[in-house]
Amino acid sequence: MMLKHKKIGFLGCGNMAQAIIQALIESGAAQASQIWVTNRSEGKLLKARQELGVQTLANNEELIDQCDTIFLAVKPQDLTEALEPIASSFHEGHLVLSLAAGFPMESLEALLPNVPMLVRVMPNTPASIRRAVVGYSLSTGAQVAENSVRELLAPLGYVVRCEEGEEFQALTVSCGSGTGFVLELMQYWQEWLEEHGFSAESARKMTVETFLGAALMAERQPQVPLQDMQDKVVSKKGVTAAGLQSMRELEIERALRYSFEKAALRDTELASRT
Ligand SMILES: NC(=O)c1ccc[n+]([C@@H]2O[C@H](COP(=O)([O-])OP(=O)(O)OC[C@H]3O[C@@H](n4cnc5c(N)ncnc54)[C@H](OP(=O)(O)O)[C@@H]3O)[C@@H](O)[C@H]2O)c1
Repeated sequence: MMLKHKKIGFLGCGNMAQAIIQALIESGAAQASQIWVTNRSEGKLLKARQELGVQTLANNEELIDQCDTIFLAVKPQDLTEALEPIASSFHEGHLVLSLAAGFPMESLEALLPNVPMLVRVMPNTPASIRRAVVGYSLSTGAQVAENSVRELLAPLGYVVRCEEGEEFQALTVSCGSGTGFVLELMQYWQEWLEEHGFSAESARKMTVETFLGAALMAERQPQVPLQDMQDKVVSKKGVTAAGLQSMRELEIERALRYSFEKAALRDTELASRT
C-alpha cells in the first residue's frame, strides 16, 4: 500500500474531485485523514468536511505546502488563473495530476516548470460509480511515480496508460465523450420502444438492460472477439440479420467515425487555446 503515507490534495472540490475522493476512501486506497481540499466557493468545502470527512484549507497555497500529491480538479478554463499565482510554491517532490480536459502536457509543463512529476488524467463520468475508463499520460519525470499513479486511479475503474497525442485524444473521444455518445444511442432505443407502446419507465429499463446485457456478456468472456459473440446472436436471414444488414447499408459505422473525428478536431482546437 504505497499511498498510506501520502498527503493527497484536491485543488477544486467539484463533481470529479468528490467522485475521486469517495472512490479512494470507499476502496480503502486512502483514508479521509490523508486528504485535503480547497474550493473557490465555501459551500462545497462544508459538504466535503461533513460528507466525505476530509480536511479543508483556506487557500491553494496552503494546499501545495500541506500535500505531496495534488489533483488539479478545476475546470480547464480556470486552471491557468488558479496556478499562475502559486506556481513557484510547487517543488520537485510534488506529484501533480491534472484532470483538465483538453489541457495538454506541454501547457502543464509550461505552467509548472518546477514540477518534473506531471500526470494528465482523463476519467469519464462513471467514475462516480467506480466504473470509469481512466486514461493517463506521464511526463518524463513522472515515470518513476507510475505505480503510485496507478494506485491513485485504480479505485475509479479501468486504468489505461496512453501516449500524449493521438492515443490520449482517442481515449478522450471514445471514452471521455463516449459516455455521452452511448447515452445518445440509448435514447434512440428508448424512444423507439415508447413509440411502439411501452411506458417511458419500461422502455428505459428495457434499453438499459439491453446495453448492460451485451456489455456484461462481453465483459465475462474477454477472450471471445466481439464479432464472434455477435455472430452467435445472428441467424442467417433472421430478424437480427435484417437489421444489421440495413445498419451496414446505411453506413452507421461511417457516420459514427465521422462524429468521432469531429470531436477529436474540437479537442485539438481547445488544446490550442491553453
Ligand atoms: N465531470 C466529469 O465527468 C469529468 C470528466 C473528465 C474530466 N473532467 C475534468 O475534471 C475537472 C473538474 O471538473 P468537474 O466536473 O468536477 O467541475 P466542477 O464540478 O465545476 O468543479 C470544479 C471546482 O473547481 C472550483 N474552483 C474553480 N477555480 C478554483 C480555484 N482557483 N481554486 C479552488 N477551486 C476552484 C470550483 O469552485 P466553485 O464552482 O464552487 O466556485 C468548482 O467547485 C475539469 O478540468 C474537467 O475537465 C471532468
